[in-house]
Amino acid sequence: MNDAVRFRLEALTCRYGPAAAVHGVTLDIPAQGVTAFIGPSGCGKSTILRCLNRMNDVIEGFSVGGRVLLDGEDVYAPGFDPVELRRRVGMVFQRSNPFPSSILDNVAYGLRLHRRPTRAELELAVEEALRAAALWDEVKDRLDASASSLSGGQQQRLCIARALAVRPEVLLFDEPASALDPISTARVEELVTELGKRLTIVIVTHNLQQAPRVADRTAFFLLGKLVEYGPTVQVFTTPAEEQTEAYVSGRFG
Ligand SMILES: Nc1ncnc2c1ncn2[C@@H]1O[C@H](COP(=O)(O)OP(=O)(O)OP(=O)(O)O)[C@@H](O)[C@H]1O
Ligand SMILES: [Mg+2]
Repeated sequence: MNDAVRFRLEALTCRYGPAAAVHGVTLDIPAQGVTAFIGPSGCGKSTILRCLNRMNDVIEGFSVGGRVLLDGEDVYAPGFDPVELRRRVGMVFQRSNPFPSSILDNVAYGLRLHRRPTRAELELAVEEALRAAALWDEVKDRLDASASSLSGGQQQRLCIARALAVRPEVLLFDEPASALDPISTARVEELVTELGKRLTIVIVTHNLQQAPRVADRTAFFLLGKLVEYGPTVQVFTTPAEEQTEAYVSGRFG
């Protein structure tokens, strides 16, 4: 078991204009396994997640304090390349967002962006990514079909394949299954568990059954602050804080 730290957040504070949304969050995310972020709506889960690959950079007025270290390097340091950061730290969103192009072109997108693969290299990488996203068997005979011809659950796995194609070290999931039916949700959860064996996974979820199913560790946030962070079983069964207990037992949120 590799217990190296992938991300270290040091006193992370996030502001949208003058309003602070995240207040001095300090936590380590190990390289291995799945880490879940839970907490009521507006507590800052997505804001923190998006700091990990600087997806917030484009939001006008957004600013961060403290540090976000990836393998010991500050991702907000002036010399840190955000494009390379986003190759290393991929993201999958709540609503699947395939590009209006073919299945193949969706998965190939990042590969073409980051290097100039030959057709054979491209096909191999696309197959590998689709297999890793448990979608290959369903689409191998129609790679040139439009991504929009896939079901919602398939589209979400396509987005996972697209993220995997550039060989990231980390995948961030922001409520990846909240728009999916139970069967598609189960497939995405299986995938998250599987991918957590070789990648660092951070998943935001509103679903209180989902975190225990997929996550090794869980961080509970309230009003922009980290309340509790530990092994998922502990957070859900013997939480140290009363606020955690109230949330995981469904008494608020
Ligand atoms: N683009 C934005 N501009 C201004 N304020 C924002 C923006 N995005 C988020 N916020 C504010 O920051 C706080 C944290 O929001 P965030 O989206 O991180 O919460 P969340 O925990 O992901 O919530 P949810 O569970 O509803 O997705 C909220 O008060 C929200 O209103
Ligand atoms: Mg959110």
